[in-house]
Amino acid sequence: MKRHISSAVAVNRRDLIKQVSMAALVSAIGSTRSGFALTPFDGVTPRVRESFDFGWKFCKGDIPEAQHSEFSDANWKNVALPHDWSIEGPFGEKEPAGASGGYLPTGIGWYRKHFHLPDLHKAKQITIEFDGVYQNSEVWINGHYLGKRPYGYIPFFYDLTPHITFEAENIMAVKVDNSRQTNCRWYSGSGIYRHTWLLSTNRVHVAHWGTFVTSPFVSRDAATLQIKTTIKNEGNNSASCTLTTNILDAEEEAIQSAESSQEVAANGEYEFVQQVRVMNPHLWSVGDSYLYKVRSTVHEQNQAIDEYDTPIGIREAIFDADKGFLLNGERVKLNGACLHVEAGCVGAAVPERVWQRRLEILQEMGCNAIRTSHNPYAAEFLDLCDRMGFLVMNEAFDEWKVPKGQIGPNGYSNYFDEWFESDVRNFVRRDRNHPSVVLWSAGNEVGDQGAAQGSETLGKLLKVFHAEDPTRPVTVGCDHIASEPISDAARPEFLALLDVVGYNYVDRWRDRKEKYYSVDRHAFPQRRFIGTESESMGGIRGDYRGLFPSEAPGEFLRLLVGRNIDVEQLWKFVRVHDYVAGDFMWTGIDYLGEARWPMKGSSSGVIDTCGFKKDGFYFYQSQWIGKPVLHIFPHWNWKGKEGSIMPVTCFTNCDTVELFVNGRSYGVKGYAFPRLGMEGGYGNYPDRVKATRTTADLHLAWDVPYEPGILKAVGIKDRKIVATTEVSTTGEPAAIGLSADREFISADRRDVAHLTVQILDDKGRVVPIADDAITFGLEGEGSLLGVDNGNPGSHEDYKSNTRRAFNGLCLAIVQSTGRPGRIRVTAASPALKSASVIVATRV
Ligand code: GAL
Repeated sequence: MKRHISSAVAVNRRDLIKQVSMAALVSAIGSTRSGFALTPFDGVTPRVRESFDFGWKFCKGDIPEAQHSEFSDANWKNVALPHDWSIEGPFGEKEPAGASGGYLPTGIGWYRKHFHLPDLHKAKQITIEFDGVYQNSEVWINGHYLGKRPYGYIPFFYDLTPHITFEAENIMAVKVDNSRQTNCRWYSGSGIYRHTWLLSTNRVHVAHWGTFVTSPFVSRDAATLQIKTTIKNEGNNSASCTLTTNILDAEEEAIQSAESSQEVAANGEYEFVQQVRVMNPHLWSVGDSYLYKVRSTVHEQNQAIDEYDTPIGIREAIFDADKGFLLNGERVKLNGACLHVEAGCVGAAVPERVWQRRLEILQEMGCNAIRTSHNPYAAEFLDLCDRMGFLVMNEAFDEWKVPKGQIGPNGYSNYFDEWFESDVRNFVRRDRNHPSVVLWSAGNEVGDQGAAQGSETLGKLLKVFHAEDPTRPVTVGCDHIASEPISDAARPEFLALLDVVGYNYVDRWRDRKEKYYSVDRHAFPQRRFIGTESESMGGIRGDYRGLFPSEAPGEFLRLLVGRNIDVEQLWKFVRVHDYVAGDFMWTGIDYLGEARWPMKGSSSGVIDTCGFKKDGFYFYQSQWIGKPVLHIFPHWNWKGKEGSIMPVTCFTNCDTVELFVNGRSYGVKGYAFPRLGMEGGYGNYPDRVKATRTTADLHLAWDVPYEPGILKAVGIKDRKIVATTEVSTTGEPAAIGLSADREFISADRRDVAHLTVQILDDKGRVVPIADDAITFGLEGEGSLLGVDNGNPGSHEDYKSNTRRAFNGLCLAIVQSTGRPGRIRVTAASPALKSASVIVATRV
C-alpha cells in the first residue's frame, strides 16, 4: 500500500538570540515619540530580533501624503500592534463587508512609526518583518517604497539596510487597504493585526527561515536528523564560514553536534546539509510534546557571526491508505476542529494567551487536531500547537483562480497568478519545521476542483509545496466529491493528484454518507482519506428555543437534533474505519461573519466566542476522552411550562445513566443495554414517557414532564457510580460571580486575563436565562481589551466597559501594562450584588 512519510521536524523560528527584556524595550520606546527601535547592545551579540509593535500612529482613511517623511502625524492616534480597526465597530447592516465580514467596517488605514537606530547597528543588515497585514499593504521607509503584499494572511519582510539612517529618526509608513469588499467569506479584520519585528544581523547570517530540519529515520532507539541551513552573504567579500549545529535537549544540554566549513561567495548564499544521529530520542507526540532545539552557530575567522535557534520535535508522521494516520508508528485518529483566526472581542489581533486558553478548552474536549481554515495563522499559534501537542492541517487558501460566488472579483483569485508562488513559499518555509504540522492543505472548496484548468493549477501549487517540503503530504478540502457525477464535483484527475484526499461534508449526503467513503475506498484502494470538514454540534449557547413541540416556529432545536444525529453517525463511521484518518468539525469555536443580519457571526462552534462551552462540547468529550463525562440539558428554568413534556438529552460515556426529577427516577438507560434496552432495569419508569433512544445514537434521551426543582443524572461505569450531575431551577438573579482564569499574568503589555461573569441566584447557582447588563471597572496595571457574551445577535460594542450577560454569562479580557503590580476588576449591575477580583502582574 502506498504510504506518505512526513519526517519529523522543527519549529521554524522566531529565534531570538539576544533575549532583551520587553520592559527595557518598552521604556526605551514607550515614553518618547521617537525612541530607539533596537536596544543599544554590546556590539558582540551577532543577532538581535526585537518587537517592533509599540509606538505606532494610526489614522483611518486614505492619506497618500503620509508616505512622505515630512508628513505630520501629530494628530494621529497612538496604537500598539497587533491592531485591528474593524473590531472597534460599529456593526452596520450596510457595511460593505456585509454578512461575510460580520457587518463590521473595513476601509483604508495608515500607520506610521518614528524610530532611531543606535550606531552599533551601523554595519548590520536591518530587516523589518510583518507577521501579517490585512490586506494589500504597502510599506515605505523614509519615503522610499519597499513594496506591496496583497494577501492578508502571509508573513513577509523587507530589507531596510540601504534606506535607513543613523543620524536622524527613521519613519516607516504602512498603507493598509481593505476597502475592496467583499474579499473574504468570513471576518478578516483590518490593519497590522499581527506582530512586527526588527531584525539586526551581520552581513553574513542564517537566511530568513533559513533552516529546514527533517528526520529521515525515526525509531525509539535512534533518529537521524537532517539539517539544511542556508547561509546568506550580503557583503561584498566572500566569507569563509564554519557552521556548527548543536542539538539541545529541553534542558538546553547539547546532545549532538555537527560542524562544516564553506566559502560563501559575496552577495551569494550556500546551503549546508548536515546529518546527526540522536540516540534514544524523546519523541514528540500528542500526549508528550517534547521539544528539542537546533542551534546553528556561524563562525568566520573564529568569531561567532550568527546564532540561530530552531525548536524541533522528533516524530514520524505517516498517512497510510489502510491504517489512517500513524504517529511514531501508533494509530492516532485526528479528532479535529476547524477554526478561523479571529477571537471575538479582540478581533483578528489575538493575544497569544487568548489562543492558548482556547486551545486548552479544545484539548479538554479531547480535540487533538486543528485545521487552520482557510489561511495561514500567526506564527505563535503553531508554537502553541507544538508545545501543547496538537496536530495541524495547515491551510493556505480559500480561493485559487476561480472566484467564489460569495466573494466576487475582489478575493484572492485576483492575485493568485502573480502571488501564489511567493505566498506558498513564505508559508511553507515559515512553518515546515513545526512538529505539529502534519499535513498541508493547498485550498478549501476551491472552484478550480471542478474546472477545466483546475488540475493544472493544482499541479503548479503541488510543485511549490513539494519543493519547499518534500516530507509532508498535501491535501485540498474538496466538497462535492461524488461517486455519481454532479456538475461542480471535484474532477477525478484533480483528486488523483492529491497526496491525501480531503472530504468536506460527507455528512451532508444524508442517505449515503457511509457509501460515500466506502464506494470511493473500493474504487480507489490506494487513496488516503481524511474528513477535512463536516458539520459540528454547534448552535447558540444555552438557547433552547423550539424545545417544545407545541411552540410555533419550533424548528430550531429539532433541526439541531437532526444535525446532531448526522454528526453522531459520521463519528460512528469514522472511529471504526481506520482508513479515514480523522475528521475536522466545522467549527470548534464560533466566529464572526458568515451570518445574516441581525446575526453577526456563525454559531457553528461547540465553544462560543468567549470560550464558553455549549452542550455539543460534551458530546465530543464523551467520545474522545477516557475519564467519565456526564452532561444533561436543557436548563431547568421553565416557568409556565409545568406539566409539559421536556426532552432531556444526555451526553455521556458511562455505561448507564439514571435520571431523576426531584428524587423520582425516570429510568436507567445506557449503551450497554441489549439492543434498544427497553427490557428491564428501568425502575419506576412512568408509562407516559416514551423512549426516544435508538441504537444508532451516541446520546441518551428521556422525555419527562417538567416540574421545577432538581434534574439529576447518575452515571454508572463498571457497576460503580462514577459521575453525577444536577441542573436546578434557580431563583431570580441576585449577585455577580466574577472569576479570573489566572492569578498572575506577565507585565509585558501583551499578556491577558479572562474574567468570567456568572449571574447567580441567592444560592450561588448560575441563572441560565439571565441577561443583566454588567459594567466593568478597572484599576491598576491593566486595561480593558474587550467584552463579549457569545451572543451572535448582539450589536453591543466590543470595546465598551459594559456588556449584557447572555444566558447567564459574559466575559471581559484585560491586558497588562509594562509595569508589575495589580489589576483590580469590578463587575457591577444595579440589581445585583457586585463582585471584584485581583490579578497580579509581574515581570
Ligand atoms: C463550508 C466552507 C466553510 C464554511 C462552511 C459553512 O463549505 O468550507 O468555510 O463556509 O461551509 O457551513
